[in-house]
Amino acid sequence: MLRNDELAQWDRDNFFHPSTHLAQHARGETLTRVIKTASGSFIEDRDGRKMLDAFAGLYCVNVGYGRQEIAEAIAEQVRELAYYHSYVGHGTEASITLSKIILDRAPSNMSKVYFGLSGSDANETNVKLIWYYNNILGRPEKKRIISRWRGYHGSGLVTGSLTGLDLFHKKFDLPVEQVIHTEAPYYFRRDDLNQSEDQFVAHCAAELEALIEREGADTIAAFIGEPVLGTGGIVPPPAGYWAAIQAVLKKHDILLIADEVVTGFGRLGSMFGCDHYGMEADIITIAKGLTSAYAPLSGSIISDRVWKVLEQGTDEYGPIGHGWTYSAHPIGAAAGVANLKLLDELNLIQNASSVGAYLNTSMKEALGNHPNVGEVRGEGMLCAVEFVKERVGRKFFDASDKVGPRISATLLSQDSVIARAMPQGDILGFAPPFCLTREEADTVVGATVRAVETVLG
Ligand SMILES: Cc1ncc(COP(=O)(O)O)c(C=O)c1O
Repeated sequence: MLRNDELAQWDRDNFFHPSTHLAQHARGETLTRVIKTASGSFIEDRDGRKMLDAFAGLYCVNVGYGRQEIAEAIAEQVRELAYYHSYVGHGTEASITLSKIILDRAPSNMSKVYFGLSGSDANETNVKLIWYYNNILGRPEKKRIISRWRGYHGSGLVTGSLTGLDLFHKKFDLPVEQVIHTEAPYYFRRDDLNQSEDQFVAHCAAELEALIEREGADTIAAFIGEPVLGTGGIVPPPAGYWAAIQAVLKKHDILLIADEVVTGFGRLGSMFGCDHYGMEADIITIAKGLTSAYAPLSGSIISDRVWKVLEQGTDEYGPIGHGWTYSAHPIGAAAGVANLKLLDELNLIQNASSVGAYLNTSMKEALGNHPNVGEVRGEGMLCAVEFVKERVGRKFFDASDKVGPRISATLLSQDSVIARAMPQGDILGFAPPFCLTREEADTVVGATVRAVETVLG
């Protein structure tokens, strides 16, 4: 067996890691962490160190690690049929069953599901389908997509543009011109500290409407948003936000894409964020929780309204020119079926709701009054702690102080708990597996308090 230092050398010499400081890593200034195995909410590295993964990988291992039922389903699928494509009407029992299971759970206006591999490619699909839709409807100018600053929708060309985080644009010549951004529903970071939540919601809706009027509604095809902002800071919307936004979209005949890559299949304690917030989406993006990341699989759930036009398009122009070799890959589909069954059998969405509420309440009680904590917020099994230099006047730390990353590093080094330093701001994010117990939630909160005390006093 290779020694860890040999593996680390191979890693530095050969492996191009995503979202990594490439130069520092190649020089050996950052750690190579080799994860070996995992079970429940814990992962274990090659040195035998166990860590409580309070971010479920990248908020995706929703049913928890080490589920043998999913492993068996994948193994059985590979033995029987590792691959066949899904072009021109081909399918497998797994992919067809999974599409039915998804539609049975999706909002009632949904019609079909297209399968991809990642959240990014699903959102690329969504944009292409919406362009096609408006071409078929004879509105070739109605193409632009509105996204929110701090939204996260992937890191492809269009999806990296939809993503409203600086790091994903800088030096990549993004965003592309078909994508424009509007205000994030981030009440804590509102410009006007005197605004009430209601006033802020009205302000977000007014900003959106002003943008649409400035650009021309006949040039705007869709609005994309996560029910709860994820990577942008784990920010549940203020009450009434989605109703106010949807009223504007309806008025201007603009479609709504609900990006449920994080929220889909239970993270908010409801099956979908659309159910949770009364969103009537035209397309829903799903990925992570669809298979709990046991295999790569994503999907675009298409509403009746959009589907009808896609059918009309193929009657007029022939088969839809969109598809990938691995669309609806049998291994992903088998993992998806087993995962969604497990979610039901173990009542995991209910657990996400109750233990998530407990985690949020405990975190608020433990840190809500700390002089450097501006806000503790969350929804379901999502929680965030946002740090400030001074609470009065909401003064933020300088980014170069790296307060968020230092607290997350301390949390790991002191107590072997993994939380994520969110990329824009000093925000510590928690998104544990749904099987988290109350005792594990206590461990997460206790360790977070200790890490905050170590770094900030
Ligand atoms: C809301 C949302 N959409 C899309 C994506 C992109 O998914 P992927 O990383 O699988 O491409 C992510 C990833 O975190 C996400 O959080």
